[in-house]
Amino acid sequence: MAQRIFVTGGAGFIGSHTVLALLRARYDVHVFDNFHNSSPRALRRVTELTGAPIGTTEGDVRSMRDLSAAVDAFRPDAAIHFAGLKAVGESEAEPLEYYTTNVQGTVNLLRAMDKQGSRRMVFSSSATVYGTPSYLPFDEAHPINPSNTYGRTKAMAETVIRDWCHANGDAGAMLLRYFNPVGADESGRIGEDPTGRPDNLMPFIAQVAVGRRQKLSVFGDDYDTRDGTGERDYIHVSDLARAHVAAVERVLERPGCDSCNVGTGQGVTVMEMIRAFERASNRRVPYKVVDRRAGDLGSYYASTERARDVLGWSPEMDLHEMCASTWNWQQQNPNGYRDG
Ligand code: NAD
Ligand code: UD1
Repeated sequence: MAQRIFVTGGAGFIGSHTVLALLRARYDVHVFDNFHNSSPRALRRVTELTGAPIGTTEGDVRSMRDLSAAVDAFRPDAAIHFAGLKAVGESEAEPLEYYTTNVQGTVNLLRAMDKQGSRRMVFSSSATVYGTPSYLPFDEAHPINPSNTYGRTKAMAETVIRDWCHANGDAGAMLLRYFNPVGADESGRIGEDPTGRPDNLMPFIAQVAVGRRQKLSVFGDDYDTRDGTGERDYIHVSDLARAHVAAVERVLERPGCDSCNVGTGQGVTVMEMIRAFERASNRRVPYKVVDRRAGDLGSYYASTERARDVLGWSPEMDLHEMCASTWNWQQQNPNGYRDG
């Protein structure tokens, strides 16, 4: 019988791509989401792509009652915990919302899983837990020292999960520290659909290219990088989804808590990204250099050795595929899921 995976936040950007990958790998999936930052349409489209139905509960990870009822009914073999809030600026303005959703939500999920005796989980962490680099590339032994509230909620949730693993010999967890997820499924049916003005580079570029916004502001060109603009480690969301399937296999096989970076190990600057997007879309991306964004780092990228050794996973998709798939999604859905 197929193993059952409970996916919180499964309607979101990374969640929907992972649900697609899990269904294709023949797992039985149940999504738990309050659709705070996503649309049920994403799940309908995943069903269109796979033909597989997706059990769904509309519920809130802040509610122990919602979570318990859904976990008790589904009896998962493992959970993937995507549900959370992720905007750095908002986390500074509304810290209690972030601690409640990201930390208390994680405690609630672990409690609900404990009650079922189901102690395997994959957690959406972030490269942001490392903070300012002491050295690059970041490896998993790099000190954890996040410089914003969002990052601190992720670091705390990691600690909670690690302690839970230590307390329960049969518990298994994989903390996946994502670098910069971008791109979309090759079908163009699911993708990133930020509400309002995008904070992140790739969705902003895509909206400029499609004519929804006039020009990109490049935040600083005086960093110590090849061309002075900020350098990041972008990872295709379909590669990231495969990393989750590998992580689920791993936690189902063995107990213990482990962490892995998920990136490509290659830094790409803002200017390199603009040029790659122009090539992939055959459109101009007008831009203007403005001041640095407060709190930004010049450069960061991952060491990917551990993911290769522990998960047997490595990225397959290059910068062109990241841009081309984003463009395909953006063109087919200029207003995201609001188009239907
Ligand atoms: P997303 O906002 O698209 O997905 C998060 C999902 O969680 C959404 O479907 C949202 O509706 C749901 N959710 C939010 N609050 C909830 C609540 N209280 N109860 C139930 N569901 C709730 O974001 P994403 O980019 O897919 O990110 C998924 C996870 O990965 C998040 O935990 C995020 O912090 C983490 N992460 C994301 C990035 C990134 O750049 N996208 C980088 C590192 C880590
Ligand atoms: C942001 C978050 C980080 C999160 C990551 C995941 C902040 C401070 N950090 O980081 O916690 O884990 O997203 O995706 O928000 N840029 C522009 N113009 C824009 C937008 C971005 O020039 O309109 C530049 C930035 O200065 C940076 C690069 O593009 O150099 C990437 O920015 P972004 O996509 O926001 O990601 P991060 O800065 O890595």
